[in-house]
Amino acid sequence: PRTMIIGVLKEPGYESRVSLLPDAATALLKKGWEVWIEKGAGAAAFSDDSLYTRSGALVKERKEITAGADIILSIHLDVSLIDEMRPPKKLIGVYYPLINPDLVKLAAEKGLTLFSMDMLPRISRAQPMDVLSSQANIAGYKAVLLAANRFPRYFPMLMTAAGSISPAKVLVIGAGVAGLQAVATARRLGAVVEVFDTRQAVKEEVNSLGAKFVEVEGAADASGAGGYAVEQSEDFLRGQKAKIAERISRSDILITTAQIPGKRAPLLVTDEMVASMKPGSVIIDLAAATGGNTTRTVNNQEVFWNGVHIIGNSNLAASMPVDASRLYGKNVIGFISLLFKENETQLNFSDELVKGTCIAHEGKITNERVIQLLQEKSLI
Ligand code: NAI
Repeated sequence: PRTMIIGVLKEPGYESRVSLLPDAATALLKKGWEVWIEKGAGAAAFSDDSLYTRSGALVKERKEITAGADIILSIHLDVSLIDEMRPPKKLIGVYYPLINPDLVKLAAEKGLTLFSMDMLPRISRAQPMDVLSSQANIAGYKAVLLAANRFPRYFPMLMTAAGSISPAKVLVIGAGVAGLQAVATARRLGAVVEVFDTRQAVKEEVNSLGAKFVEVEGAADASGAGGYAVEQSEDFLRGQKAKIAERISRSDILITTAQIPGKRAPLLVTDEMVASMKPGSVIIDLAAATGGNTTRTVNNQEVFWNGVHIIGNSNLAASMPVDASRLYGKNVIGFISLLFKENETQLNFSDELVKGTCIAHEGKITNERVIQLLQEKSLI
């Protein structure tokens, strides 16, 4: 059979990452693939076309790629991209099908095959391909740097000839990948850190980073949710809110990351809580794209309210495009190697990673939860 062609598209204007950096393109070429890169695709990630040419990839016009490639790498998906595609094509990216079920429907009707890497089941075999983890790690790191930059005071404790400075107090809600990296980064800057999470299992990790885990009794068991969080009872949320309120008024910085796949992010921080923070405090809400964890969060905006900066940003990985793209590319290579073992073109749907990530195939939506969501919205 002829060599399959992997095409890398330039992302929309708001995105600085690219699916493959030149080194990743070389790695795929070595595995026997052909790699085509859209002109200028790596520019915002500091990889110009000449670097791709040197890597062995072919730099082409967008039209040639959308027409000729077998597999399309595009982190984002939108209506115009679906329009440009000719079936049958396989697209690999991060499409949040539970947030955008209507896009999935459109792509399925068009006869496209979609693989959304944010749908990977959380098993150890999937870790090298886990884009949510590689990108959330960056988001957690950047969240703290952004907060430190806005904060009108020092993070570390300092003893100087001009007097002493007390350390900043950071509160992190949600100790997943992003939250734990935020804890580690805030600790490196010398802050005192407290943490909330519904999963008792992260307590040890939080403590080992030198932060304090705040206990709340009665969290719902998420062990059946494949590593993802679940919704909590009213009772639990009430108890948790009381404890958050108590801690927040003493904090200078709040970083929130709590998300539940397919659902609005839990509203954990009320107006009163924000108002109780000291003037000059900073909130970074990484759950902004799914509604935010605070009542004052606006996605992709910085709000200044009652003396507090509230920054809503769920795409902080894009502010560090080189490492973000490098890690993303590694994830993609792992995923492609899994999808097409020994360059086989037949997809193996008995593999739970293939089945979990494939959301549209041969004219059909192939994910039960997406179908259910569309039925609920009476769209199918
Ligand atoms: P996430 O982005 O879905 O959520 C962030 C955190 O918020 C989670 O720790 C969650 O428990 C917490 N949260 C949800 N509702 C909350 C509430 N009401 N109050 C406080 N906290 C709340 O989580 P993320 O970062 O994607 O990962 C979660 C876990 O999954 C981690 O332990 C991670 O190591 C694991 N994981 C495993 C993978 C694998 O085995 N392949 C891949 C990726 C993650």
